[in-house]
Parts: sequence; C-alpha cells; structure tokens
Amino acid sequence: MNETKTPPPPSPDGSATPLPITRPDFDAVVDRRNTGSLKWDRYAGRDIIPLWVADMDFAVCPQIIAALHARVDHAVFGYTRAYPGPGEAVVQYLKSKHGVEADPSWIVWMPGMVPGLAMSSAAIGSPGDEVMTFTPVYPPFFSAPKDAGRTLIAVPLTEKDGRITFDFEAMEAALTPRTRQVLLCNPHNPVGRVWTRAELETLADFCVRHDLALCSDEIHCDLLIEPELSPFTTCLSLAGPIRDRLVVMMAASKTYNVPGLGLSFALIPNPEMRRKFQGTKNCFVAETSPLGFAATEAAYREGESWRVALCEYLRANRDRIRRAITEHAPEVKMPHLEATYLAWLDVRALKLAHPVAHFEKHGIGLSDGADFGAPGFVRMNFGCTAATLTEGLKRFVQAVAAAREAAAAGA
Ligand SMILES: Cc1ncc(COP(=O)(O)O)c(C=O)c1O
Repeated sequence: MNETKTPPPPSPDGSATPLPITRPDFDAVVDRRNTGSLKWDRYAGRDIIPLWVADMDFAVCPQIIAALHARVDHAVFGYTRAYPGPGEAVVQYLKSKHGVEADPSWIVWMPGMVPGLAMSSAAIGSPGDEVMTFTPVYPPFFSAPKDAGRTLIAVPLTEKDGRITFDFEAMEAALTPRTRQVLLCNPHNPVGRVWTRAELETLADFCVRHDLALCSDEIHCDLLIEPELSPFTTCLSLAGPIRDRLVVMMAASKTYNVPGLGLSFALIPNPEMRRKFQGTKNCFVAETSPLGFAATEAAYREGESWRVALCEYLRANRDRIRRAITEHAPEVKMPHLEATYLAWLDVRALKLAHPVAHFEKHGIGLSDGADFGAPGFVRMNFGCTAATLTEGLKRFVQAVAAAREAAAAGA
C-alpha cells in the first residue's frame, strides 16, 4: 500500500513550527525571464528594464514558501472553498494591524480585486446607474463599472497646500440622481496618497448624504513607505451609517508579492449588501485557488517582519528616485509618495509625443499615464533591487536629458 498523503497541517493557532526569522535579502537577484512573467516578457530579448506592471522582483518570505510546500505536498488541488484558517487569519490581522473587530461572516473570497470592482459596481442599483471615481486612477477603475453596465463619473483629484486630495466641490457638481456608488483607491494608485481619517470621514459623510455606497480598494494598505507620518486608515474603521454602505476589499497579494496566486477578499459588514455582492459573483469570477489560501494565511500569520523590512527597502528606493529627479531631472515632478511601490511622474514639461516609447528607446519600460486618465505622466515601479533601480534611473535621467536637448534644438 502506498503512503497516505495527509492534508497540510491545520494552522489556525500557528501550531506549525515557526521558521527562524532572518533578515530578507532584497538585493538578491531572481531571474524572472522565461517564467511567463507579464512584467519581464514584454521586453524579452530587448535591453529594456521593466519597471511597469505592479508586481515586485523579490522572492517571497520563507513562511509563505513553507506553507505552499505543505499544500503542494498534499498533491490534490480540487475546487476549493474557504476553510476556517485563512478567514481566522484575516480577522486576527485586521484586529492586530488595523484595530478593527471584524466578523468572519463579513468575508467574501474572490480570485482577484479587479473582479471585485465589477462585482461591487453591479451589486448596487441597476444598469445605466453611475459610479463615481477619482482620477488619475488604476485603469480597471474605468473599465470595471462599464463591464457591469454602469456609467462612470470621473472626478479629478485636486491639489491643496501641495498635497493631492479629493475635490468635494467638483464631486457635488458631478453627482446626478443616478449616482449610486463611489469607488475609492485607498491608498491611491497611482498618486501614492494614504488618505487621512479626516479625508475619509468627509468622504463617508458625502456618501451618506447622497445615498451612495462606498467601495474601497485597499490592496496597497500594508505598503506604507512612511507609516509614522502617514498611517493608514481602513474604511472599515469608520463609524456611523457609512458602515451599512461599505464594501472594503483587501488582499495579501500586493504586499507579499503573490498576485499570481489569485486571492483577494471583500469585507462587507451589512448582510444585505453582502448578499447583493455575492449574488453577482457567478457573473464575474471563477473558483478561488487553494495555493492562494495557503499563501494568504501564512502571509497574515507570519509575514509581518518580512513586510516591515520590505517597506524600509522600498522607502530607500523611493528616496533614490527623489534624489535622481531633484539632482538630474528637475523638470520632472513627483508628488510626495506615502505608500505603494509606484512612483507617479509628471513628465509633461518634456513635451514628448509618446513618453513611454521615448523612455523605452532609452532602455526603461514604464506604465503610460494615459491609461490612468493622465497623458503626459508615467508610472515607475520601484519594487525591484536597488541595483536594478539605479540602472533604471541612470537610463531615465539620460532619457530626460535627450528630451531636453531635443526641445532646446527645436526651440
Ligand atoms: C489599486 C489596485 N487594485 C487592484 C489591483 C489588482 O488586483 P488583482 O490582481 O487582485 O486583480 C491592483 C494592481 O496593481 C491595484 O493597484
């Protein structure tokens, strides 16, 4: 008789032997070529450093690897529903990290955050109703409401006292009787703001006054570059009537670098809202992945010291970008970045017809601001080794100099 395969050890109370904590080496180079990486394959065979789509080049923490090994050793990967461990890990994480008492019944598991944006759009109101969002923003905020048969109202963010924030006057003006919901990115991709409690309370008040639901995408909430100056507030911690209008979406995927494992979750305190959200699930999403559950549980239970070290590393990378721009490319503007590993760069002063193509010509691959609703901007992903970023910045500065010289010659 063959050896019986046992399921992975249950870990609700972290009963597996903890791995020793060693300082992660974010300088270690992992060759991602020929692994089907979206980020690296775009420039396969070309000397272009990929600093675009939002995943990081770092190996994940050993605790996640160990959990995945344990799950893989079980050797059966059937359709998987939520089992208690991951939900309990999420509830414990919300309590210890964000001070929120959540009930496991609030959780709706999803294979990704983007379908969640469509599900939330579809869950409230009817086709032709409107969803409001704030631009520039991560491109699926434009497409998901449309996929759900909703009309998008895009209200530009504004700048006050040198800081990007909501424009409540413009929001009031843009509302119509068919507006049903606000889609919020918190912290915000691409401008890197961590919204303050005061800003969120004003937004919540706006939603309640106008009978709107609030869907908050908080996928970047643990990627805080300066947590002491810009602490994160989850919308789940807002008090009062907004709680019955909330869909809050989170995932371990962005912070712990496992987006390819496809697992995120919504937290919806109001049972009726939850029922409506769940009712849209079959239209938009497939089953969730057993490996995603294993990784998520390990990340929230055991990944904190890795996360803290990661954020320190990212902060140093952000500062490298700031220094390079200040010293060598002062015509490029970068808003102060409080969270995410995505730098939002205003290159309009360079007067480039095609900014991304220009930077590619100089060996650096960036995301096009036009896709975020802001032509003339580019987004730089600095979730990479310091060495990769340093080379990327050298090329960036050369590209800026070339544009400057071309502009001077044409003037
Ligand atoms: C704000 C935001 N939401 C969602 C996603 C993607 O989430 P998922 O891969 O779970 O669909 C991203 C990826 O960059 C993001 O920045």
